[in-house]
Amino acid sequence: MSTITLLRKPEDARRKLAEAYASIATELAEADRIYAAELASRATYVARLVEHCSQLQGKRLRPALVLLTAQACGGIRPEHPVLAAVVEMVHTATLVHDDILDEAFVRRHAATVNAEWGNESAVLIGDYLFTHAFHLAASLDTTLACRLIGRATNLVCEGEMQQVANRGELDLDEASYYAIVRGKTAELTAVCCRLGAHYAGASPEVVDAMDGFGRDLGVAFQIADDVLDLWGEERTTGKTMGTDLEKQKLTLPIIHLLSVLPRAEAARLRVDLAHPDADVRRTLRPLLESSGALQYAWDQAQHFADSARAALDLLPETRASAALRQLAQYVVRRAY
Ligand code: IPE
Ligand code: IPE
Ligand code: MG
Ligand code: MG
Repeated sequence: MSTITLLRKPEDARRKLAEAYASIATELAEADRIYAAELASRATYVARLVEHCSQLQGKRLRPALVLLTAQACGGIRPEHPVLAAVVEMVHTATLVHDDILDEAFVRRHAATVNAEWGNESAVLIGDYLFTHAFHLAASLDTTLACRLIGRATNLVCEGEMQQVANRGELDLDEASYYAIVRGKTAELTAVCCRLGAHYAGASPEVVDAMDGFGRDLGVAFQIADDVLDLWGEERTTGKTMGTDLEKQKLTLPIIHLLSVLPRAEAARLRVDLAHPDADVRRTLRPLLESSGALQYAWDQAQHFADSARAALDLLPETRASAALRQLAQYVVRRAY
């Protein structure tokens, strides 16, 4: 039995998010406006690509982390909606580039840029999003945000590169998996919370605790995402599923499965993973379940979500800190 109740219906997952975002609705809308204004272009082709990337919103988890952390640590100030737009731009850039790497067709319930316009346009619109993110961050009074977001983005890129370097590495261990995840996903969620707290005037101790919150939440989020890649349905998640297997990127459930299977069975599975066929996801599912590998991955995700929530103990109990707690649980239960 799973210890986690998954939000199987997308509408339940969406409702949970809407509840968590209720106190920041105005500032999130302001961040959306700043985002659109920054990316506006007179070049028709660019404008079309930008419109495609902005039309279908994702969960806006990273802007929400900036704003809720700010609210929980002293209050939202004029810098925060700008920072929220910047981190969403960086995030969207990484998705556009990631879909090229993964040869994915669907993102946010629509065609990926690479599927609709080809890799050349996708590389360039990803670059456009990255450069605008830093152009916008540079509009703030100090260079601190640029430096912090620049550093986090460097580490995100390093994480993605480490993952590419480990493609086809069928002996990948947990430590290497976590090193990749901490880079490609947790650095950005950590900096969102650091910026939220810092620009709200929080003490260095609280700023560090919020960084830790975002970091653990990011790891929990990515483990859940990796489970979804094996278990989820495209119509629910809104993105191409199974690309980790297709691209021979080993994730936590598979790493654990290989470690618990008898040696000969693990060797046979490695042969299948090296040449994945269209059915590999379906055939792996019963094995992931019966071996306990799926449960193991969920337990690890829950462990990081619990650790994230523990970092919030430093904050006074407010609506915003409760929303952050809710988000930390949401990321391991989400259906999309
Ligand atoms: C997907 O992120 C990329 C990962 C880090 C796994 P999200 O699931 O937050 O994507 P959107 O923004 O909601 O589409
Ligand atoms: C990519 O990881 C995460 C990034 C930081 C871009 P995934 O490849 O698992 O993300 P999805 O599943 O395509 O959203
Ligand atoms: Mg991907
Ligand atoms: Mg994924």
